[in-house]
Amino acid sequence: MNKIIEIDQLTKRYELSGGDYIDALKGIDLHLIKGETLGLVGESGSGKSTLAKILMKLEALNSGRILLKERDSQLYKPKEYFSHIQMVFQDPYSSLNPRKTIFSIITEPLVINKSLTQEELRRIAKDKIELVGLNSQVLERYPHTLSGGQRQRVGIARALTLEPEVLILDEPISALDVSIQAAILNLLIDLQKKLNLTYLFIGHDLNVIRYIADRVAVMYLGEIVEMGSTDDIFKNTKHEYTKKLINSSLDLKNDN
Ligand SMILES: Nc1ncnc2c1ncn2[C@@H]1O[C@H](COP(=O)(O)OP(=O)(O)OP(=O)(O)O)[C@@H](O)[C@H]1O
Ligand SMILES: [Mg+2]
Repeated sequence: MNKIIEIDQLTKRYELSGGDYIDALKGIDLHLIKGETLGLVGESGSGKSTLAKILMKLEALNSGRILLKERDSQLYKPKEYFSHIQMVFQDPYSSLNPRKTIFSIITEPLVINKSLTQEELRRIAKDKIELVGLNSQVLERYPHTLSGGQRQRVGIARALTLEPEVLILDEPISALDVSIQAAILNLLIDLQKKLNLTYLFIGHDLNVIRYIADRVAVMYLGEIVEMGSTDDIFKNTKHEYTKKLINSSLDLKNDN
């Protein structure tokens, strides 16, 4: 079993004003196996995005450690670390800089991390934009001229420019119109096969998780309360909280 990411006893405390605090992560143990999709579910506030942000070094951890390819994440230079792991954000409206062309959005990680000629940047941008199913003419345009689905394709292309092996997907389709969610989901599945990517897929919609994930981890108030193969989690649910989560997502479906 090839563990590309291993998370050991990870804790995160947010200090609030007046000496208050929130223990957002209370000792998380989790691993990602190369090539798999691990679905991460749990109600709002359970700590899913905090975990994603710590993996992307957007937040510092308090204790515990993260191993990337068996090496402590803190030992990597940022440039090297982010050549292995990238993130796609939930909201393609706010996550793309409105003042930049799609070309400069997509090539930004390359400009920061590598010294490439303009010609090489053009070639890579064209390559990535076509990989996510868009026409290369899009490169000259600005985010506001694109639909939500097109923008999320751009977000995915940007995450792929450094050719990472791991993608953190924090609710990548939740902000999109329902009519295009399946197309983006299937794009992610195609890309995973083509590029042998490993996904940490954070989601609310358990039907989506069931469709995309090989294994599922269930979070509740900063802890992993249940973890197993997707089949096991849905068919032999052990934890009461997971049962509630599954039932409430069925309720939501019936309400629609
Ligand atoms: N920057 C912050 N400062 C203080 N508290 C925070 C901060 N970010 C998150 N929290 C708190 O940490 C807990 C976990 O939040 P987090 O965003 O990780 O949850 P989540 O599982 O991603 O929820 P959602 O499903 O709504 O996205 C919550 O109680 C939240 O209020
Ligand atoms: Mg979140």
